[in-house]
Amino acid sequence: MAVLVDVHTHVYLPRYASWLRSRSIAPRILVNEAGEERLLILENETSAGRPVGPSYWDRDAKLSFMDQHGIDISVVSFANPWLDFLSPPDAESLARDLNTDLEEYCATGPALASSSLQRLYGLGLLPLVPGISIPSVLEAVSQIAQAPHLRGLIMGTKGLGKGLDDEALDPIWGAIEKAGLVVFLHPHYGVDSSAWGEKENGHVLPLALGFPFETTTAITRLILSGTFDRFPSLRILLAHSGGALPQLSSRLASCIDHDPIVASRLRHNARFYLGKLWFDAVAYGPEELAFVTEVISRAGRYESGSSNTKVLADRKEGSKRMLFGTDHPFFPPLSSSEKWKSVVENLEAIDSVVGWEQVEREGVRGGNALTFFGIE
Ligand code: URA
Ligand code: ZN
Repeated sequence: MAVLVDVHTHVYLPRYASWLRSRSIAPRILVNEAGEERLLILENETSAGRPVGPSYWDRDAKLSFMDQHGIDISVVSFANPWLDFLSPPDAESLARDLNTDLEEYCATGPALASSSLQRLYGLGLLPLVPGISIPSVLEAVSQIAQAPHLRGLIMGTKGLGKGLDDEALDPIWGAIEKAGLVVFLHPHYGVDSSAWGEKENGHVLPLALGFPFETTTAITRLILSGTFDRFPSLRILLAHSGGALPQLSSRLASCIDHDPIVASRLRHNARFYLGKLWFDAVAYGPEELAFVTEVISRAGRYESGSSNTKVLADRKEGSKRMLFGTDHPFFPPLSSSEKWKSVVENLEAIDSVVGWEQVEREGVRGGNALTFFGIE
């Protein structure tokens, strides 16, 4: 069955939006002088914030966006900054309630016509905040694993406050791996904003560069910590096509090879780990999708030393680890238009990768997601 599945689509459920409304500092939702609600979540965001409305929390709005763009199924995840700003007790209870809410959001949603599938599946969240007890995080993993419509969880890059290379996370990686849940790794903080200078460029630099650089740093630290050697069956999906990791993976491998502290730490050549990851197709261009799928396909073969393979065959092989996404409700069109440019561009990119045939395009559009998330 050829379906279109959106694996990168967010929601601020009503319970979370209420929490943001109750706050007087960011992250928060405020009402401006014109009486309109604004979302303030990014670092250094001016009080103008972003317009926020039903597309952020209303299920009918999500479904109508899906219908408008021919999306059959969405794997909906909570949006940044998740629970990062909460105290351990608040994070623990809100994680439990939000995971319950998301399961209900999916379970009581519509079925996909003439199939036994639902139109909505979800990725829950964990109460990952400094000072939380590991058993309470493990309880959230187990709650998600038992929820029939939740197929994994979305995670930011802070871990328990020390990043994702913190050994204290090992029991959590172990539980996630054992439960077979997908981890969707997603940025929020960007990188040091002093690099952005003084010119007013709106959200362009933090979103276009800061977000993907943050993901790149987080996944690189995870690779360097040997986590994939200890948990080889972990399934991690990287937002925004893995940021800069595919472009920098050979440089990373070379830096490791030449570093006396790290050279003998990992079981594999650094490129190998790219072949263990999954990548969304939220890159907005066919050349980028072609490059990423070529690089990840070759990654595993560096073990045997044979990197000289056929480019188009590599792109086809690598496409099995790539999955369509939209980043809804972010990046709405600035003026009213029938379809969102951010969606159309990602679909056109999938349609235009040189070397992919119909089977690869259908895989990236939805077939890979059905397999990856066990939607059957
Ligand atoms: N802006 C955000 O804050 N989050 C996203 O996921 C995309 C854009
Ligand atoms: Zn996103």
